[in-house]
Amino acid sequence: MTQDEMKKAAAAAAIEYVESGMIVGIGTGSTANHFIDLLADIKGKIDGTVASSEASADRLRGHGIPVMSLNEAGQLSLYVDGADESNKYLHLIKGGGGALTREKIVAAASEKFVCIADESKLVDVMGVFPLPVEVIPMARSYVAREILSRTGGTPVLREGFTTDNGNVILDIHDLEIMEPVKIENELNSIVGVVTNGLFAARPADVLILGTPDGARTVSP
Ligand code: 5RP
Repeated sequence: MTQDEMKKAAAAAAIEYVESGMIVGIGTGSTANHFIDLLADIKGKIDGTVASSEASADRLRGHGIPVMSLNEAGQLSLYVDGADESNKYLHLIKGGGGALTREKIVAAASEKFVCIADESKLVDVMGVFPLPVEVIPMARSYVAREILSRTGGTPVLREGFTTDNGNVILDIHDLEIMEPVKIENELNSIVGVVTNGLFAARPADVLILGTPDGARTVSP
């Protein structure tokens, strides 16, 4: 099975969490795209979706699936999204696609966060994948200096990339994340940071991993 087939297997297993009348929070990325495509088959069952990016909203609308704003939808029962890394506590690194802030908002507003990924995303210690941080453009170089002095990690500007919110991304390399909640809070306390891609204060509730033998569910 290819990595993409494993992502699809995880997405298919997450469809089981969709119940009639739900408004479903939708993540961003190739695994979330599989989920969107499979959701199209049961679109009559749900009341609508809230998307975590313009790209996902476009894909949902392309399937004729209604997309509403989070303000209209209120509290969501379910959020389904991918991840760049997860540990066994279901703390995540997200934001490889740059949608981390809206993803974090939709996750925060959801009762259950089902994370879908291929099995390569499960790691012992997070940080091999560079940690994305969304930053207000004028604060970029100040925030980079603070990141270096507070974490020891190496911030690298994601060249030529602007988030859906009009901001830039600094990807932090060379981090070994032993205390995810502490690093998440520390980075968010830097003035000019919108948010960072650690989902540890609000981890996933369920992790579904695609494996060569099919989908496997991991609970914390
Ligand atoms: C986007 C994300 C994605 O969930 C993450 O990058 C995983 O992507 P993929 O499903 O393509 O492996 O956080 O901001």
